[in-house]
This record gives sequence, structure tokens and C-alpha cells, in this order.
Amino acid sequence: MNGERTALVTGGNRGLGLEISRQLAHAGARVILGSRDLEKGKAAAKAISGRGVVVEARQLDMASQDSIRECVAAVTSHYQRIDILVNNAGVMIDDESSDPIHELDVVRETMETNVYGPLLLAELVIPIMKTRRYGRIVNLSSGMGSLTGMGAGYVAYRMSKAGINVVTRVLAAETMGMGILINSVDPGWARTDMGGKGANRTVEKGAETPVWLSLLPDSGPTGGFFHDKTQIEW
Ligand SMILES: NC(=O)c1ccc[n+]([C@@H]2O[C@H](COP(=O)([O-])OP(=O)(O)OC[C@H]3O[C@@H](n4cnc5c(N)ncnc54)[C@H](OP(=O)(O)O)[C@@H]3O)[C@@H](O)[C@H]2O)c1
Repeated sequence: MNGERTALVTGGNRGLGLEISRQLAHAGARVILGSRDLEKGKAAAKAISGRGVVVEARQLDMASQDSIRECVAAVTSHYQRIDILVNNAGVMIDDESSDPIHELDVVRETMETNVYGPLLLAELVIPIMKTRRYGRIVNLSSGMGSLTGMGAGYVAYRMSKAGINVVTRVLAAETMGMGILINSVDPGWARTDMGGKGANRTVEKGAETPVWLSLLPDSGPTGGFFHDKTQIEW
């Protein structure tokens, strides 16, 4: 890897975030593993550290503006850089029979963690990336947020994933030509707590394209939506 890249991964204490953290650390990045419960984050970081790989945990609640601001301030004052941001943390609170008329709070709560938090975090990190003219931002979206393939149910989750795709497009347009590459990824249906045991792919496979996007060369794409390293329809 070109120099020691510093990567911040949100929701790193389990699931895809933990595996993305592990793969990035083994690729040579200094990984800051964000976790809303610091003790869980420390245990997860310890589990994937070792053999020359050190992963550090930081408290980071994506539903709290204060927590997001404090985390960015702490990481930048310590390392003066954030080269890679993986907006991985996410919730899926609703289901196929969700009823927004009675559960608008579910929509709000989902948007807080899946869209507003990632937007704020990216907005705080981009100026730091601009100073080095280097940055990679990977937003964990989903096929369920694709307008082309939109289906019924899960309205809060689907809205949030379509929303994070808007964040990707807007911020990519705003940073064009600045060495900052911002993309969305559909990791596929992976066997995590969210994906469930019946999912058709491993966490390793689910993490593969987010990690690939995190480590894109300078000539790589920006403003795209990817699945298995291939650009897909919005
Ligand atoms: N698994 C799939 O099949 C699949 C498919 C498409 C997209 N995705 C997306 O991939 C991402 C990771 O999913 P996953 O399957 O790994 O989910 P998961 O197993 O449910 O893990 C979710 C992670 O997000 C964290 N999180 C939730 N709310 C948070 C908050 N307010 N602040 C900080 N962290 C928070 C959780 O932390 P706690 O432990 O504290 O709850 C946990 O670390 C999500 O954005 C998801 O929408 C997953």
C-alpha cells in the first residue's frame, strides 16, 4: 500500500464491518474500528489484531451528531489524516409488512443511522481528504435501494439505501478531480445478523467489493454503484 493509509470503518464490531476492517488491516491500512459500544469495539478490534496487524477501536454512534464530530476530531488530532471512510453501519428495522402510517418513527430512526449520520461523517472527512488530495469513501448501500429493481415492503430501509446513493452521487460530483473517489456498493446477501443464516454468501465475499472500492487506484471510478466489482444500475 502507498504509505500507511488510515481507514475509518463504521459499525466495525460485527458483520460486514468487522470483516471489512480485518481485510483492510491485512492489506496494510491502519484501521480505526468505529463502534457505538466501545467495549464491543475493543473486543472486536482485539479479535482481528495480531501478527503485526493493529486495529484500534473508537466510540462512534452514527445516530449521534456529537459522537460523529468527536470521533473525527479525535482521529484527526491523533493521526492528522483519514484516507479511507467506509460508511458501513446500518439498521434494518422494518420488514415486508411495514406500515409507515403508524411507524413513521421507524423511517426516521432508519434514516438517522443509514443516511444522515453517513452524510455528516463524509462532510466532516472530505476537507481532511482534500488537504492530501487523496480519499476513498465507500457507502454500504443495497440492491433494495436500487430504483431500477425497487419492490414492495421495507420502505424505511429501501428509502435509506436509495438516500445513501444520493449522498454518493452528490459528494462524488462535488469532489470530482480532487483525488477523492466516492462510490456505493451492494455487498450482496451476506450471512450476518442482518442478512440471516439463509443468506447466500459469506461475510468474506460480502466484504470483497467494499474493500476493493476502499483501495481503488487513483484512476478508479467515482460516483458509481457496484456489486461484485461491476457497475450496476441505480
Ligand atoms: N448482510 C446483508 O445481506 C446486506 C445486504 C445489503 C446491504 N447490507 C448493508 O451492509 C451494512 C452492514 O450490514 P451487516 O449485514 O453487517 O449488518 P449487521 O450484522 O446487522 O451489523 C450492523 C452493524 O452496524 C452497527 N450499527 C447499527 N446502528 C449503529 C449506530 N447507530 N451507530 C454505529 N453503529 C451502528 C451495528 O452495531 P451494534 O452491534 O452496536 O448494533 C453493527 O456493527 C449495512 O449498512 C447493511 O444495510 C447488508
